Order: sequence, then structure tokens, then C-alpha cells
Amino acid sequence: MTLTVRSGLPPLSADEAAHARRVAAALHAAIAAAGGWLSFEAFMELVLYAPGLGYYSAGSHKLGAGGDFVTAPEMSALFGRCVARACQPLLAEGGEVLELGAGSGALAATLLEEWHALGTLPERYSILEVSAELAARQRARLGTLPGPLRERVTWLERLPDRPLAGVILANEVADALPCRRLRVQGDGLAELGVVAEGEGVAPASAAPARPLTAAWTALRNSLPVLPEGYTTEVCLRLRPWLQSLAAVLGRGALLLFDYGLPRAHYYHPQRREGTLRCHFRQRAHEDPYVNLGLQDITAWVDFSAAAEAGAAAGLEVAGYCTQTAFLLGSGIESLIAQAADGAQRARLAGEGRRLLMPEEMGEAFKALALTRDPPAELPGFGLQDLRHQL
Ligand SMILES: C[S@@+](CC[C@H](N)C(=O)[O-])C[C@H]1O[C@@H](n2cnc3c(N)ncnc32)[C@H](O)[C@@H]1O
Repeated sequence: MTLTVRSGLPPLSADEAAHARRVAAALHAAIAAAGGWLSFEAFMELVLYAPGLGYYSAGSHKLGAGGDFVTAPEMSALFGRCVARACQPLLAEGGEVLELGAGSGALAATLLEEWHALGTLPERYSILEVSAELAARQRARLGTLPGPLRERVTWLERLPDRPLAGVILANEVADALPCRRLRVQGDGLAELGVVAEGEGVAPASAAPARPLTAAWTALRNSLPVLPEGYTTEVCLRLRPWLQSLAAVLGRGALLLFDYGLPRAHYYHPQRREGTLRCHFRQRAHEDPYVNLGLQDITAWVDFSAAAEAGAAAGLEVAGYCTQTAFLLGSGIESLIAQAADGAQRARLAGEGRRLLMPEEMGEAFKALALTRDPPAELPGFGLQDLRHQL
């Protein structure tokens, strides 16, 4: 069926094809309700998050070796152990942690174990997760931790309405926020979205809506001339999302880890096709209109926009560097050297290479620290300072 199959991608099972058809039917209804055309942002929202249908809201396995993609905390506990060490000074006098979008719970488990070993367990570890299915996986995973660790974990329905002193963390969450897509056309702009086509959907452009034109006009002033047909993404949700997190941070740090770039690199004239990527059974590809509700869709993060949003909310842009620099600055080499024996050292060295090598995760992923009146410096940002690029 053309709706679900794309050459080069693994075929869908009968159940998966039936699920994709249900998602397509929901999309057709949404497109009709919107007058025949749906923005890419609304399309991405539905295929990722619609209750019972979206990739994150339905039963896809998603993260890990048996799923569609592997994140840094899934790949190796070294990532979480480094984050724990980087955050330790902020938790030395007590404090709490809030993690957004905790996936399988791998990062939370590693952090709690490492802080326990270091004697700096936070008073509370809260998780705000939009996917009920992933929240259930997190409960099962974190339920296996020893009582004193497990008892600190709570799940929130919404952001707390009291200020938090400590750390707010989000690994690979900003790239999952639904984004707008646009194409440079003549002197102006076309907004990309979808229309119904056969049993599925097809890309189609329309005149851009007001929030996108306003954001693009502001952006264009700082960009070189972009060629005709240049296609890219703008995440209008990034700023309000970060501002809502900043409003919660009474004292401490908001740490973002994600693949992304400063604005001048993100909107470089040679990046003609933008940054949108889909993940299906460990294969990355660039077609969001197949495997509806069955594949992840992400767009890289404009870290200049993230830093500006933080600064506008009164936070200090305290650090920005590659994942490699962050992990080295947080002691990954000594963690590998402390391995119990040669076999463990070889395994950790292999995991470390995947986290650190530029052609793997090391350069594409960045770490951004936004702070408010932090009680201490963040050690993970001492090796490299790329804030001048933002
Ligand atoms: C790519 S996964 C990353 C999971 C995990 N942080 C990791 O690194 O393995 C994205 C996660 O963010 C969650 N998510 C997406 N939008 C969110 C939002 N606005 N607030 C909280 N969680 C969100 C998803 O349900 C999922 O758990």
C-alpha cells in the first residue's frame, strides 16, 4: 500500500499498516476541519502525540536497540553519570530535579544511582512526560530501583506552580517539539503543510500564517540571502516552552541536550533541505509522510533561539558546548579508567567513542546551560565555550 511503504525502509506488519490507516483517517478529518490544508506543525503534533494514535502516544517501542532510535542515555550509562557529576555542585545543599520527557527512564535511573553513590541524592526527582505509554515504562523501570531512590520519583501532570531550586533537564525533547516548515520563494515565503491524497497525505504549500511570517521576518535580518527553494524549519514552540521552564526555575540550572546548531549554521545557505529527520527501526530518513504514527520525526534545535528565550526569561546563558566537550569536562575519561576489569573497560571505551566521536554523537549534539543564581559553577562547561557562536 503506497500509504505505508517507502523503498529502502522495512515493510510494515499488518497491524502497523492498520494503525497507519487509522492515523491517516484522523489526519484526513483534521485536514478537512482546517479547510483542506494542515500546517506541518499541526501534522507533526497529530502523528507524534494524538492520544492513542501518535508515535509517542501509542504502542511503538520507540527507544532502545529494539526500537527506532537510540539516545545517549540509552546507549550508555556514561552519559547519565557525567550529567550527575556536572549537576552535583547544584545539589550539594539539597535541591530537586525535574526531567522533561524521560523516555524509558534510563537517564533518571542512572542519575539517581550515581547521585546515591556520590552522596548527593536530590530531595525529589519529578518527571513531566506527555506520553502515557512512556510514563508507564518509566514507572516500571524506576520501580526496580532501591526504595530510597525510587521513593524520590514522582510524575507530574503539569509544570509545578512553585519555584524549584536545583536542576531542570531535557535530553532530546526540544527536537521533538512540533515545528513549522517553510520554503523560500521569490522575495517571500511559502509555508509547508499537508493535504489529503489517496489513502495518505502529501506535502503542499500555502501562504504562511502570521506567527510564522513575524518570526521569519525577525530571523531574516540576521541571515545571509538564502537561495530559491531553500527549505527549513522554525520551531515557534521552543520559546514559550523554555519560558515556561524558566518560570519554574527559582534557583539553579536548566540543562538542554540535543542535536542542534547556532543560528548562523542552522540557516546556512548550503543547508538547503533543512534539518528534519525521521527515525524508523534504526534507520534515519527524510520522509515524514510515510509510516504515519509509526516513526519519530525530529528537527534540529536552533540553539541561538533557545539561548535568547532563556535570556528573555531572565536566565543567564552560562554554558554552550559540544556533547564531547561536556562529557570530557564532566570526567568521562576517569569513569572509563575506573572500570573494574579489562572487559568492562573495553566495553565502556566503545560506548564512550560513540558518545564522543564527531561522526557519531559528539559534535552534532550540544549542551546548553541556562542558570538563575546558581549556588556553584557547572563543571561540565569548563573545557569549551561556544557561546560566541550563539
Ligand atoms: C526523543 S525522546 C527522548 C527521551 C529521553 N529523554 C532520552 O533521552 O532517552 C522525546 C521524549 O520527550 C517527550 N516529550 C515530547 N514533548 C514533550 C513535552 N512538551 N513535555 C514533556 N515531554 C515531552 C516524549 O514523550 C519522549 O519521552
